[in-house]
Amino acid sequence: MKTRDSGMPGEGQWSGFFAPDAILCALGLNQVDGALVDIGCGYGTFSLAAARMTGQRVIALDIDPGLVRLVAERARAQSLTLVDARVADVAAAGTGLDDGAAAAVLLFNLLHCEEPLRLLAEARRVLAPGGRVAVIHWRSDIATPRGPDLAIRPRPETCAAWLELAGFVVAVPPLLLPPYHFGLVGRRPRATRSPRL
Ligand SMILES: C[S@@+](CC[C@H](N)C(=O)[O-])C[C@H]1O[C@@H](n2cnc3c(N)ncnc32)[C@H](O)[C@@H]1O
Repeated sequence: MKTRDSGMPGEGQWSGFFAPDAILCALGLNQVDGALVDIGCGYGTFSLAAARMTGQRVIALDIDPGLVRLVAERARAQSLTLVDARVADVAAAGTGLDDGAAAAVLLFNLLHCEEPLRLLAEARRVLAPGGRVAVIHWRSDIATPRGPDLAIRPRPETCAAWLELAGFVVAVPPLLLPPYHFGLVGRRPRATRSPRL
């Protein structure tokens, strides 16, 4: 099922809200040693930028088949052969990827969903030890032109607490990603068991 409040405006407007390369660099995701998974990839705003910057395989997952087709077409048009766009209801059924298959997971503009800890647990499962999960979201302390209702919009400190609850170490504490977002990164520790969520 589509997570709550997860619609987007037209692509032209959406892409104007972000500087994807700058955001990926600020979070240290310009260098990744292995596959990336972009959960709820939308228009591929970050999947395509990540593939271009890292040269790694990017598995772009979304529940909306139209968006997945669009991402696959855009990747082909840009000769980004390492982008693998797939339909998946990640909230209900997970990513379908093997344990430890990824070096990085992107959860961008998605953690206002009904069960953020479940998504983070899935991210942790598919990450190899030492792998990173990156979260960005709309700020609630300034006016923003879009974003989920303030009542369900997670704050940076809440996201950091969720990361720790899900068994990550906060590797990049919350930082501002102008003009409208914040971001942070968690790292899956190298040798610990999964927390019981
Ligand atoms: C607000 S958009 C964010 C898109 C992208 N992450 C970005 O920041 O540009 C949320 C995306 O999550 C997708 N989505 C919602 N529920 C989902 C689910 N259960 N499984 C996978 N994707 C989902 C929506 O279709 C939409 O493309």
